[in-house]
Amino acid sequence: MRLFACFYLLLTAFPAWCGSLALTADRMLDVKSGEVITDAIVMIDGNIISQAGPATQIAIPEGTRTINLGDATLLPGLMDMHVHLTSDAALHGYKRLAVSLPRATITGVKHARATLNAGFTTVRNVGAPGFADVALKNAIRAGDISGPRMFVAGPSLGVTGGHCDNNLLPYDYHDSSEGVADGPWEIRKAVRRNIKYGADLIKFCATGGVLSKGTRVGAQQYTLEEMQALVEEAHLRGLTVATHAHGTSGIKQAIQAGVDSVEHASLLDDEAIAMALEKGTYLSMDIYVTEYILGEGAKAGILEESLAKERTVGKTQRENFRKAVEAGVKMVFGSDAGVYPHGNNAKQFARMVKFGMTPLQAIQAATINAATLLKQNATLGSIEDGKLADIIAVSGNPLSQVNTLENVLLVVKDGQVIKHPDKR
Ligand code: ARG
Repeated sequence: MRLFACFYLLLTAFPAWCGSLALTADRMLDVKSGEVITDAIVMIDGNIISQAGPATQIAIPEGTRTINLGDATLLPGLMDMHVHLTSDAALHGYKRLAVSLPRATITGVKHARATLNAGFTTVRNVGAPGFADVALKNAIRAGDISGPRMFVAGPSLGVTGGHCDNNLLPYDYHDSSEGVADGPWEIRKAVRRNIKYGADLIKFCATGGVLSKGTRVGAQQYTLEEMQALVEEAHLRGLTVATHAHGTSGIKQAIQAGVDSVEHASLLDDEAIAMALEKGTYLSMDIYVTEYILGEGAKAGILEESLAKERTVGKTQRENFRKAVEAGVKMVFGSDAGVYPHGNNAKQFARMVKFGMTPLQAIQAATINAATLLKQNATLGSIEDGKLADIIAVSGNPLSQVNTLENVLLVVKDGQVIKHPDKR
């Protein structure tokens, strides 16, 4: 059927529509084995990878649109498991209070494009006001705007006055974030509401945070009982759960409650590492963002109390990242882009290598591991026959020079060429 359609479209002079595309490059990375295939070809049919391997084994049919990349490496599209597309890195603290929901959503349109152009073909948006993330995701899917595949959480859940609440205004404003839910049944209801309005996963705050006013970064916020109710409700409905947790007891109780990923995980200890290993919990540790917060944060409106918290947390988080990597805990790439500028996501790769990963491990965190966390590894996360055609290319070899991932030459998403080396 597809062949017939392809033939018909060729006859009617729309060869691009038949979807055949060939990519050639000096190298292709098999992210599962770590093997580098030299002189590689990837054949794409519509939105599917039909063949991928060494040029000696694949023939490009005459007339196929071909992009020759030369001294470059083909990789699966990158996946960032912790972004906030509707957040503007230049507007923090009280500056952010002046941003309306429609404005934040429009900002998200710009950030979605920047993220995709940077080679991130899939993101997990872990917290957005007013289900703006659901709207963005649907607009991208419908082809109205350009952006990555999105897996979205809707509003993050958390306790009154906690990291997922908004604590900037005094009592007389009666302001409280949409995700505030206290006690097991309020939490279950909030989970149900988020599902109703389009969430693919649930995000909640187990502990205080850096950027929230008046929270202690190490202090636990949800009780174990609350977290158990939340995780049970989400899992019952087939959704995964991501928790913001910096503090040690919050990390441990969240793992005990069965969360799928712990975000930040700054104050891990050996017991928490052992628990994550035993339960198979993923860690998503944003170890680049500290540089932006301490460098640019004050200008962007980050409160002095938050800068003080960051000074205590950033360094420990990086040391604990190394420990978790050495222990073999499952890791995904999560940047917290939105706190720092979207499109700069890949800057974190060099830090992941500096703090203990091999370049291959860092790339796996952003591809096959992320796809597995999302339960999408049958269709995403590696360049293999039958998987969705989300492919990027970078110059040189990222296994010897990981920061080449900061300059992506080619982006193909769902079989469509988004960015091309000749028209950068
Ligand atoms: N959104 C996070 C928070 O406010 C950012 C933490 C950034 N700092 C870090 N060292 N990872 O808690």
